[in-house]
Amino acid sequence: MIRALTLLVFILVSVPSFAVPPGKVLSWESEEGRVVFNGTKHAGKGIKCTQCHLEVFRMRHGVTKMTMKEMNEGAYCGACHDGKTSFSTSDERYCSKCHVK
Ligand code: HEC
Ligand code: HEC
Ligand code: HEC
Repeated sequence: MIRALTLLVFILVSVPSFAVPPGKVLSWESEEGRVVFNGTKHAGKGIKCTQCHLEVFRMRHGVTKMTMKEMNEGAYCGACHDGKTSFSTSDERYCSKCHVK
């Protein structure tokens, strides 16, 4: 059991070149247009699984209702898309980076 857990943790922290989550592009439909999250592009920036899971996001797509208000206050995507770590969720120049029409 311990060994299986150790292996799991090892896999989770040692494969940043995986798509994040492995092999996937996730999307959401919103009135502002489809939102696309590309795991590979995030992993390519060296972001580890644990930077997003489980504090920021559950490991289950589509179960959490996210609003722009929460993101603009630093939740979900806004934990990094805050104008410092990466482009801001509240800056009108960048809406279309996430909301591809
Ligand atoms: C930059 C943030 C970020 C990183 C890093 C990240 N994930 Fe995720 N992951 C997400 C988001 C966002 C979701 C979708 C959550 C939602 O829909 O509420 C998700 C969902 C998932 C899911 C569920 C997919 C589904 O279809 O239900 C799995 C499994 C997962 N991630 C595994 C991983 C693993 C393994 C890693 C590391 C290799 C990783 N994630 C790294 C953001 C990230
Ligand atoms: C970092 C990515 C990202 C950026 C940048 C972004 N959004 Fe969003 N937006 C999302 C996600 C994720 C959702 C949630 C979709 C869902 O859960 O259905 C969302 C949802 C929305 C919604 C529907 C929910 C709500 O809060 O009303 C609107 C409207 C919206 N965005 C407008 C905008 C506008 C306008 C901008 C630019 C000022 C913007 N978004 C920038 C990711 C982003
Ligand atoms: C742990 C930090 C983190 C979280 C959380 C995060 N991102 Fe990112 N994201 C980044 C970084 C870093 C970059 C690359 C730097 C840049 O392009 O500004 C990036 C880049 C992007 C890009 C541009 C990709 C490209 O084509 O170059 C999009 C689109 C994006 N993120 C969407 C999202 C969405 C949607 C969410 C929430 C579901 C999200 N991100 C959550 C850190 C994060």
